[in-house]
Amino acid sequence: MAETKDARLDFNIVQEENKVDTSKKLRVGIIGCGWIADAHMDCYKKMADVEIVAGADLVPGKAAAFMAKHGIPDAKTDYASHKEMLDDESLQLDAVSICTYNRQHAEPAIYALNKGVNVLLEKPFTVTLDEAAEVMRAEKASGKILSIGFQPRLDANMQMIKKIVESGELGDIYYIQTGGGRRRGIPTPFGTTFIEDKTAGLGALGDIGCYSLDMVLNAIGYPKPLTVTGYKSAFFGKDPNYSGYREDKKAEYASLFSVDDFAAAFIRLEGGIILDFRIAWAMNLNTPGDTIILGTKGGLRIPSTECWNGSVGGPMKIYHEVAGLQTETVIPTLPGGDLFFKKIRSFLDAIKNGDPAPVPSSQIIYNQAILDGIARSAELGREIEIEIPEI
Ligand SMILES: NC(=O)c1ccc[n+]([C@@H]2O[C@H](COP(=O)([O-])OP(=O)(O)OC[C@H]3O[C@@H](n4cnc5c(N)ncnc54)[C@H](O)[C@@H]3O)[C@@H](O)[C@H]2O)c1
Repeated sequence: MAETKDARLDFNIVQEENKVDTSKKLRVGIIGCGWIADAHMDCYKKMADVEIVAGADLVPGKAAAFMAKHGIPDAKTDYASHKEMLDDESLQLDAVSICTYNRQHAEPAIYALNKGVNVLLEKPFTVTLDEAAEVMRAEKASGKILSIGFQPRLDANMQMIKKIVESGELGDIYYIQTGGGRRRGIPTPFGTTFIEDKTAGLGALGDIGCYSLDMVLNAIGYPKPLTVTGYKSAFFGKDPNYSGYREDKKAEYASLFSVDDFAAAFIRLEGGIILDFRIAWAMNLNTPGDTIILGTKGGLRIPSTECWNGSVGGPMKIYHEVAGLQTETVIPTLPGGDLFFKKIRSFLDAIKNGDPAPVPSSQIIYNQAILDGIARSAELGREIEIEIPEI
């Protein structure tokens, strides 16, 4: 299948890079200088209207080494945590990227918003629904921008899913199956921050499950979740013989593993829509299945990928009836562009133009409510009702 070129999308990227107003530089700080902070920094360095002024990490010396590696040795890094950095008024911060592990999403986000600093917060939003609500209260009180780091939704293929639903081609949506996973892919190459409850809080569910949920919920306009029956397990992560630990000679990780490596759920959404979900960091299967969206006029099949990270695995297909004939329409794969660049650029543009957050908390709170609901339902062993806190 030949790829369809979307010149308009490429043109937008070029325009963003070239036509940026540099009369006022945005002063940006990085909170958490680990693995994903590199991707943020690589993009900020391409922005002519950004000055990276500071970085903070809990590990002494890590922020300084990070800034040196990125060729910004003058950035201030002498901070023991996010608090000291945000308390330093000499920095005059316009924005921060929060790239800390999940259990340290809410606290720095609230602290930054209370200080009047715009926030780009990595996914998942938080660990619990209550934390997300607390962050949103700080966002509301501050009037600043809070955007959550869901770059896959900026992919032209993901946007196509939303366009297909909105075009009415599928009719009324009543059933969705989504999720994905890896046969063997517990993320431990950089240590244990993804697999320990004290840092991660959620396992595959939060790490990659949030992407699957955003893929379909964003497409259908983020209806409110009503009830959830959830399940989670950790058969691979807790096994000292897990192949990944064997290869890395890290059998001790099995005793540290304290999150989920598989989760599944049955969720009822407002509007009578059923959402059937499953996600895996490890399983005895290549993929738990494609994403499917069933409507009264058509059905959409979105191929999964073997390394599920929120991307479309190939050409999508619409199954529908045309003039009485059961037929299929193939949707060619579109060039996605540099999604991380778009994520950072759209956040900066929203600050400069006074626009709404590109990935707003008002949507992602429902994503978080489902993650939280699955975790709670799994622990209780029964269906639960989802209540969205007052913001
Ligand atoms: N959007 C994406 O594609 C993507 C990809 C990978 C990870 N992530 C997300 O990014 C986050 C970080 O992941 P990572 O792989 O970089 O983890 P990491 O463990 O490599 O880095 C996190 C860093 O944050 C620091 N930290 C924690 N709390 C802090 C605080 N209060 N103040 C200052 N520093 C603090 C830690 O010391 C650590 O160095 C996770 O929430 C993850 O889900 C997003």
